[in-house]
Amino acid sequence: MILLRTLALGAVALITASCGVGGTHNSAVEASGGTESAPILTTADARDPHSYARPLEARVNDVALDLALDFRAKRVGGTATLDIDRKPDAKEIILDTDNLEIQSVADAAGKPLDYKVGTDDPKMGAPLTIALGPDTKKIVIRYRSGPDAEALQWLVPEQTAGKKHPYLFSQGQPTLNRTWIPTQDSPGIRQTWSATVTAPEPLNVVMSGERLTPNGEPAGEGRRAFRFRMDKPVAPYLIAIAAGDIAFRKLGPRTGVWTEPAMLDRAAAELADTEKMVEAAEKLYGPYRWGRYDMLVLPPSFPYGGMENPTLTFLTPTFIAGDKSLVSLVAHELAHSWSGNLVTNATWADSWLNEGFTNYFENRIMEAIYGTRRAQQEAALSFDDMMETLDEEGMSDPTTRLNLPPAEATPEGGATGIVYDKGAIFLRTIESIVGREAWDAYLRSYFDRYAFEPMTSARFLADLREHLVKGDSALEKKLMLDEWVYQPGLPSNVARPAPSAFAAVDRAIAGFKGGGAVPTGFAGWTTAEKLRFLNGLPRKLPTRRLGELDRQLRLNAAGNNEVLFAWLELAVANRYDPAVPALERFLTTQGRRKFVAPLIEALAKDQQWGRPIAARIYPKARPLYHPITTRGLDELGLPAG
Ligand code: BES
Ligand code: ZN
Repeated sequence: MILLRTLALGAVALITASCGVGGTHNSAVEASGGTESAPILTTADARDPHSYARPLEARVNDVALDLALDFRAKRVGGTATLDIDRKPDAKEIILDTDNLEIQSVADAAGKPLDYKVGTDDPKMGAPLTIALGPDTKKIVIRYRSGPDAEALQWLVPEQTAGKKHPYLFSQGQPTLNRTWIPTQDSPGIRQTWSATVTAPEPLNVVMSGERLTPNGEPAGEGRRAFRFRMDKPVAPYLIAIAAGDIAFRKLGPRTGVWTEPAMLDRAAAELADTEKMVEAAEKLYGPYRWGRYDMLVLPPSFPYGGMENPTLTFLTPTFIAGDKSLVSLVAHELAHSWSGNLVTNATWADSWLNEGFTNYFENRIMEAIYGTRRAQQEAALSFDDMMETLDEEGMSDPTTRLNLPPAEATPEGGATGIVYDKGAIFLRTIESIVGREAWDAYLRSYFDRYAFEPMTSARFLADLREHLVKGDSALEKKLMLDEWVYQPGLPSNVARPAPSAFAAVDRAIAGFKGGGAVPTGFAGWTTAEKLRFLNGLPRKLPTRRLGELDRQLRLNAAGNNEVLFAWLELAVANRYDPAVPALERFLTTQGRRKFVAPLIEALAKDQQWGRPIAARIYPKARPLYHPITTRGLDELGLPAG
């Protein structure tokens, strides 16, 4: 399909063809330039305030990296060759960079191009403005990353499972990739990419794209080169790399796991249901379009639960419980292959289009594989998380809107209780009103219509009205769409979780609160039930009662890290000394921000009991932590070591 379009900006009308992947649907869409470029949205709500790029003037289409990993200097260096689309009269292109050391900029023929690195902003980095000749279509940037590139964590051997080799991994979302790749780092500017990366023997390199060299190729000087390609346009935050002593185990025809050899057995056992999950997801919302779905289980300093890097989800090792009880994490990252990676929030003010949709989709995958009960319980916990955020922020606080107003829009996307939970509950509410069949048919068509395109709240609502509401004014009224997306708080039509989901656990909580015994069935409960129980207990309990819980439920020895975390939060709130060894072990053996930050903060706030403990543990633990995890914690005034 060829669509003829004119550029909205500037006097020159550019006639372009849309890219081969998906069409364009309204006049606010540009395919700016060549025949292969992914469309750019032109509406005001799609302008990304967290990028310096001006894609309607000149935009990056493809990034070709040729990089060497230097573990001694902790830098990546080499060249990035950018294919660009530009208005014929464009005089410059603006890229995003953050502490990159730019060595030279040239065109395809090697002719130097003038460039300027602008003022560095602590959050956004600095614009790299490159002067374009009348025919410049390709730009070659020679550079290396700065010494503390935030996207990259360089681990020494002691920080890995094998303890023999160094390790490197990247985390791009939301705006960190500009610390190692000079490109337009905005989710609405989709780019294809390829990479050749060399690393010292015997290290392996993996990336979030098709692997072209299964075992690498000799590159001289004791190094090997690995080549990768992503031929579908992706948001640049989805370019990811890891290197280390990394091995592979096949799980299914198109699924597998990469991790350090010492972790391979445990990781593969935990992830045994992955192929089934891909099949369940496809049955719901259409074909998986990325080829392989592999996962990389990282060392314990990985700061997130998971990251949906295309073809290669990154996972924390802390999800391994031995019984698949935390694999909703995998369902979540897999679901992003549709919501997020295929249809992508154009700006971080609409993060809910990525995370809320994904939270909803995750739950549908969980239901398909593990049944209604587990899914309903997990959805009920998500509802509690939303209510907690609404209580904390207040029902009229602008941060409780799904579409965040400009003043509140951070690249991190906002409170998870809103972006993830309110987002998912909005979609569950639509489902409950129109029925599952109609809703699933709509969602599936949505992913097809907008595959490989950016999305905004307004664009989604317009599409929903066109293809689901279809002028039915009674339905329109029932849905309360604008209220859900643009108003704070909670609309009155909200679908509440099944009241039966936790009936037994809630009885146990009431019993224990009333002085009764520790529930005997606990060991056989689902993880969601255990979390509901622990988080439902009063925050202040007598030491004797904590001791009963601890001893009878063996909480200090919990092998499920979510359960252990819920217990440790309760223990810290109660200054429960017998939990301190478990607390110290937990804080010094993993660096997932969601677990570390609340515990360190709670300790630091408790001047008498907690602060000395934090002052002792933090300097010991901090070298393990990623900068994403230490962010905010360093300001607590604890010794940093
Ligand atoms: N894409 C997110 C991780 C992310 C969000 C990175 C915002 C940077 C900024 C990922 O899919 C995610 O949501 N991870 C969650 C796990 C999930 C099961 C809720 C996490 O890491 O806790
Ligand atoms: Zn997510």
